[in-house]
Amino acid sequence: MNTSNRLRIAIQKSGRLSKDCQSLLKQLGVKLNLREQRLIAHSTNMPIDVLRVRDDDIPGLVMDGVCDLGIVGENVLVETQAERERAGQSNAVKKLSKLDFGYCRLALAWPQELGAQSKDWFNGKRIATTYPEILKQYLVKENIDASVVMLTGSVEVAPRAGLADAICDLVSTGATLEANGLMQGDTILESNACLIQNANLNDDSKLSLINKLLPRLKGVRQAKE
Ligand code: PRP
Ligand code: ZN
Ligand code: MG
Repeated sequence: MNTSNRLRIAIQKSGRLSKDCQSLLKQLGVKLNLREQRLIAHSTNMPIDVLRVRDDDIPGLVMDGVCDLGIVGENVLVETQAERERAGQSNAVKKLSKLDFGYCRLALAWPQELGAQSKDWFNGKRIATTYPEILKQYLVKENIDASVVMLTGSVEVAPRAGLADAICDLVSTGATLEANGLMQGDTILESNACLIQNANLNDDSKLSLINKLLPRLKGVRQAKE
């Protein structure tokens, strides 16, 4: 549990969501000194600490109460929830708000030179992914008998490296698929960034700070419409 009396928010240190997270905090009026390459940044005008970590670690940190809030992609949230469900670990979080950035799709892809393929093609194939739980649920639902190769990074090079026949990875602009000669297939999950809160948070001063920030967040989102 986060026993500090400062509200602790986890955001991605570097990646697709980091810039937008930083500007969102700024728009909410949270002043931070993020210049230093520190794990924790203390706000200078509110009792808030921002923890900068790998996106994949954010749902777990919030579920375990190490952080009170987190900004994370639904893709990572759904995967972590399924993984923890399987392991019998607590996986509840309170979803406070959807955010207007970080849109991406988790999609299947395979080498372009193979041309268009139907779902049947995947039977007996190996699919590399960082999202094994979401992919397995999809394979069961679609009745596809494929094997899953778990990779934490560089998924897009797996077919060329001979590690897999196809991949299941996040697509945002499509540049990564294109650069690696991969063709995009079915979308398995659509994802946005979202703001999550520890499900057991009961510290009154933290809750009232969150209640002050949420209307501001609503204002920021409406201003963008
Ligand atoms: C995803 C994915 C690709 C890239 C796709 O990674 O794994 O590398 O984004 O984006 P594009 O279609 O715009 O090229 P992500 O940024 O989520 O980070 P991670 O894999 O480091 O967690
Ligand atoms: Zn990641
Ligand atoms: Mg990546």
